[in-house]
Amino acid sequence: MNLLSMRVDVPSGSMTERDSDAEKRAVLQAEISQAARLTEMDKVGSAFAHELNQPLAAIVNYLQACHRLLQDQPTPVTLRVRQALEKAVGQADRASQIIRNLRDLIHKPEAERRLEDIGAIVLDAVTLTHAEADAAGVALHLTGGVGLPRVYIAKLDMHVVLLHLIRNGIEAMAQSPQRDLTIETARTADGSAQVRIIDRGAGLPAEVTERLFQPFVTTKPTGLGAGLSICRTIVEAHGGRIEATPNPDGGTIFSFTIPSAE
Ligand SMILES: Nc1ncnc2c1ncn2[C@@H]1O[C@H](COP(=O)(O)OP(=O)(O)OP(=O)(O)O)[C@@H](O)[C@H]1O
Ligand SMILES: [Mg+2]
Repeated sequence: MNLLSMRVDVPSGSMTERDSDAEKRAVLQAEISQAARLTEMDKVGSAFAHELNQPLAAIVNYLQACHRLLQDQPTPVTLRVRQALEKAVGQADRASQIIRNLRDLIHKPEAERRLEDIGAIVLDAVTLTHAEADAAGVALHLTGGVGLPRVYIAKLDMHVVLLHLIRNGIEAMAQSPQRDLTIETARTADGSAQVRIIDRGAGLPAEVTERLFQPFVTTKPTGLGAGLSICRTIVEAHGGRIEATPNPDGGTIFSFTIPSAE
C-alpha cells in the first residue's frame, strides 16, 4: 500500500480545500521548525554547559591548590597573589553561574502529550519532506501501517524525530545510484509501534558507529551532529528505543519504537 501517493500525488477536493490543506501544512511546518530549534538549543546548551563546567571546576581546583600552597609563605607578594587567586575563583564561579542561567533560559518546557495515531503523524512527516526528497532525486515509499497501536506522545517532538531521520536518509543517498527511502510502520511483538527509515546510502561511516547518538558527532562539512542525539533524547523520553543497523541490501536502517498506550 502506498499511502503517500494516495495523499500526495493524487490531491483531491476543491481548490479551496487544497488551499486550506496547504495552509495547515505550512502551520505544522512552522511549528515543527520551532520545536526542532528549541530541542536543538536545549541539547546544544546542555552539552556546552556540561563540557564547560568540567574545565571550570578543574580551574577552581588548581587555583585553590595554589592558594593553599602559598598559605605557609606569608610575604607581601604572596599575600597579593593569594588575593588575586581568590578573585579568580570568584570569577570562575560566576562563569559557572552564567552557564547555568543560560541553560535554564533555553530549557524548553515539556511538550504536551496526547493519544495519537502514529500512522497519521508519519504520513504528515512524509508529506512535509516530499519536496525536499524530490529535489534530491529521492523516491519516498511509505509501507506497513496495519494494526498500529495508539501512542501517547508529543506530536511535534515525534515530527522532529521523523524529519531528522528522513533528512539523514536523503543526505546519505546523495551519491547513491539508487535513491529510495522507505518509511515502514509496524506493530512489534510486544505491541509497541515501530517506525523504520530504510535508506540505500553508503552505510554508516566506521568512525561514527560507536558514538552515533552522542552530540557533536558528524562527518558532514556543515553538520552540527545534533540530529541523532536529539532523536534519542525524544524517543527515550517517550519510553521508546532507537537504533541503527546496516541494511542488508546496502544502506542503513534507523528504527525506533514507542510503547503502546493501550
Ligand atoms: N542514514 C545515514 N546513513 C549514513 N550515515 C548516517 C546516517 N544518518 C546519520 N549518519 C552519520 O551519523 C552522523 C551524525 O548524524 P546526525 O544527524 O546526528 O548529525 P548530522 O546529520 O551530521 O548533522 P545535523 O546536526 O545537521 O543533523 C552523520 O554525520 C553521518 O556521518
Ligand atoms: Mg542529521
